[in-house]
Amino acid sequence: MIDGKKILFSGMQATGTLTLGNYLGALKNWVTLSNEYECYYSVVDLHSITVRQDPEELRTRARNLLTLYIAAGLDPEKNCIYYQSHVSGHAELAWILECFTYVGELNRMTQFKDKARKHADNINAGLYTYPVLMAADILLYQADVVPVGSDQMQHLEITRDIAGRFNSLYGDIFTIPEPYIGKAGARIMSLQDPEKKMSKSDENPNASVYLLDEPSVIMKKFKRAVTDSEGCIAYRDEQPGIRNLIDIYCAATDKTVDEALKEFEGQGYGTLKTAVGESVVAILEPLQKRFKELSEEKTYIDSIIKKNAEKAEATAQKTLKAAQEAVGFPARM
Ligand code: TRP
Repeated sequence: MIDGKKILFSGMQATGTLTLGNYLGALKNWVTLSNEYECYYSVVDLHSITVRQDPEELRTRARNLLTLYIAAGLDPEKNCIYYQSHVSGHAELAWILECFTYVGELNRMTQFKDKARKHADNINAGLYTYPVLMAADILLYQADVVPVGSDQMQHLEITRDIAGRFNSLYGDIFTIPEPYIGKAGARIMSLQDPEKKMSKSDENPNASVYLLDEPSVIMKKFKRAVTDSEGCIAYRDEQPGIRNLIDIYCAATDKTVDEALKEFEGQGYGTLKTAVGESVVAILEPLQKRFKELSEEKTYIDSIIKKNAEKAEATAQKTLKAAQEAVGFPARM
């Protein structure tokens, strides 16, 4: 608790360009949550190097991601927005926690298995211990809640297991975090294969809307979205393409599915696609404008980076010290 507020931690990787799915599924909710919680939002660049990155590109993307957090509406004076690599406690606590994590547990991580398959030429140890680093992120800040997508739920569970194990040996060092399950963060699917999640790394550029896509590109991508031959607008499993368009529309306009269905009753797919495209442009255009402006305010962003890293570091150090002492490391003089 800080000032009577519970603590929230979340992070995103700076790999690839953020998509509409990242925005509607996560970032938009982060902004809402920031009113209610004391929030740490990290750009998790330590996680990024588990797969090979071009150094300059990683640096640029990390900076853009941090800027996007702010452009999306996260107030950097109220939220701790920082680079994971600026706070050395993440790596230090991760090492300690690795010694309280079983290989058997890590072997069960489905994301590791997926990534090992995808990057068969680079199955490095970091890829394997990735969930422990994520546990360190969360536990360092004594987070009460962590908003995560279903793909990260297993990592949150292992975090809870590691923290519980550590606490039962050494006393209450860590807060056991809960997943944040609020109003379902929209799960946005690919526009080209609506059975698949919209992804930053999709090879087909028409499958994903990127946050910095030009309005005309956004409209074009929606016009090309894969639908079906039913010819009627309904919200059901048999029409995953249409359902996805309705989900996007509802998330972008804060309308309910029923409201959307009423609005589009008797309309053709073309009308729906145009309306969805326009609703997305309406939220992304101001975000893009803000992003552009912020990108030019170099000293301002630099000062945010510095200030928030210091703030994060101060909190992280407290937890790290407690953990170091608990396991028996000598105090520093
Ligand atoms: N692994 C998360 C992802 O890929 C990113 C992440 C790293 C994270 N550390 C975290 C998310 C801590 C929540 C809390 O999406």
